[in-house]
Amino acid sequence: MCGIVGYIGKANAASVLIGGLKRLEYRGYDSAGLALLDGDVIHISKAPGKVANLNAKARAEWDAGMIERAGTGIAHTRWATHGPPTEANAHPHLDESGHIALVHNGIIENYRSIRARLESKGHHFRSETDTEVLAHLIGDCDKGDLLQAVRDALHQVEGTFGIAVISSREPGIIITARRGSPIVIGVGHGETIIASDASAILAHTQRVIYLDDNDIAVVTADAVDVRDLNNFPVTREIAELGLDTAATEKGGYEHFMLKEIHEQPESLANAIRGRLDHQLGSSVLSGMGTSPRDLAEILRVVMVGCGTSLHAAMVGEYALGDIADIPAEVRQAADFRYRNPILGNHDLVVAISQSGETADTLAAVREARQKGAFVMSLVNVVGSTIARETGRGVYLHAGPEISVASTKAFTSQVSVLLMMALKLGRGRRFSREEGLRLALEIEAIPELVRSVIKQDKLISEIAARYVDNEHAFYIGRGPMYPVALEGALKLKEISYIHAEGYHAAELKHGPIALLQKGTLVVAVACEGPAKDKTLGNVEECRARGARILGVITEGDHEAEEVMDDFIAIPRAHPLVATIPATVALQLFSYHVARLRGCEIDQPRNLAKSVTVE
Ligand code: G6P
Repeated sequence: MCGIVGYIGKANAASVLIGGLKRLEYRGYDSAGLALLDGDVIHISKAPGKVANLNAKARAEWDAGMIERAGTGIAHTRWATHGPPTEANAHPHLDESGHIALVHNGIIENYRSIRARLESKGHHFRSETDTEVLAHLIGDCDKGDLLQAVRDALHQVEGTFGIAVISSREPGIIITARRGSPIVIGVGHGETIIASDASAILAHTQRVIYLDDNDIAVVTADAVDVRDLNNFPVTREIAELGLDTAATEKGGYEHFMLKEIHEQPESLANAIRGRLDHQLGSSVLSGMGTSPRDLAEILRVVMVGCGTSLHAAMVGEYALGDIADIPAEVRQAADFRYRNPILGNHDLVVAISQSGETADTLAAVREARQKGAFVMSLVNVVGSTIARETGRGVYLHAGPEISVASTKAFTSQVSVLLMMALKLGRGRRFSREEGLRLALEIEAIPELVRSVIKQDKLISEIAARYVDNEHAFYIGRGPMYPVALEGALKLKEISYIHAEGYHAAELKHGPIALLQKGTLVVAVACEGPAKDKTLGNVEECRARGARILGVITEGDHEAEEVMDDFIAIPRAHPLVATIPATVALQLFSYHVARLRGCEIDQPRNLAKSVTVE
């Protein structure tokens, strides 16, 4: 959830590290810190708040010549777990002697007992963090060989870590290691960059090494030596990132979120391209690695995920039930993991994750594999842990998603789930004609989304009318129910308006008690079997004075009449329509948050990738 960058090489380390932190800031942004090695002296600067604060502070308190000279350093942007986001709690943390500096993502679960043991040996701690305890532990193990000290310390800790360590006694190296928190190493010419996320690396090199759990690497400017926790060398191949820096820049948009919403016609085209078979009326998802016979043996699909990905899974549940005629379930990934799920080799478990690093989703994958299920993933970030551990699945090809609130990943997830349902359906009762019709509908998704994005200005005008609402209820039925949940999530994440999503039929079972004159109800009431019932629920809300914003189908005058405001999306298959309907709600949330002056790309308390439980 936090960001790590490390650099060793011929360039100015401070600039590389600050640049890298800025690219990682979306992963955690409540405080930041930087350690530079100048000869055999470690300099540390830390600041609460954004990376810009750190940059200003470090440049004010450090000698410019030192900043210019130093070619080695580590840096961190934090999302607080242990202790508030103060300067003292920010990373890097030093060991007792002050020779070793450490940055860390993850949680050291047994830090209390280690801290007590070290305190009894005379260690003094200056922060409330688990990370400082690990720094002291490494220092305590250091008998003149940093690699061995890190290894000895890591043998003693429980929990998760992605770390980078420097020592003033061994200035030519950085040690990095991982268990449960990603580490990527960029291999340049005469320089090496360590990061928790490839976006901090791609300005420097496209060549990367992904560490696996329990790998420790000794990194110099010219070499990367990877070992396991028992010091046996392990081979990790160099992979090509295949990303360019433009994909991680705002490109003239005011916010990454707006850019990512606008990119959707293209990201969806990338998700769909080459994956529809118009001869067979099916889809080609070769990453699934399944033959028609394998598919025929699947008796149940269980989808796991968190947050927005969980909502995509819920749309997938409708798609698999309606198209593929296959029992499908959705499980919140943490719940799945701890409920000792009943699974067997006729179950297909699909892990859905933008980042491919969410701790609970990863744990669900491991549990499902343990139980012998057929496991695959639907992931955006190439080379991420979930993608690598499942070994099979479908990449979303949405490109880097920087805004914490997920947008383009969701729509790509849903489009891939529709194609997955089509593939499974064609192996069952879905006819070729039905398959061909659906394939054409899926192919048209980018165009549908384009027509919603064209209404950006109108949606912004509508948003202006609701900017002062403090509560909102989102309702929908059938596949529009998860769309309502996702719409409410987006609004609360970025505008801090209290927003709740409900199945429209549930409204009368409680939430209706909260409706008063002027309460905002967003009704997702596009054409489909459940539309009339949703409109009936809208009438009930109107009768209690609520103001209704509808997301409806173009030309549906009956729906227009019961709405105070509406956003119209083009006519489409009810499952396909979930995608443009979601885009309409993304734009609505975005404009409400913008007009309220919120920090859209980095909402308070949130993080892009939740790598702790
Ligand atoms: C965090 C993010 C959400 C995301 C969720 C799951 O909460 O802020 O935007 O939906 O994690 O992340 P994943 O990467 O697994 O899709």
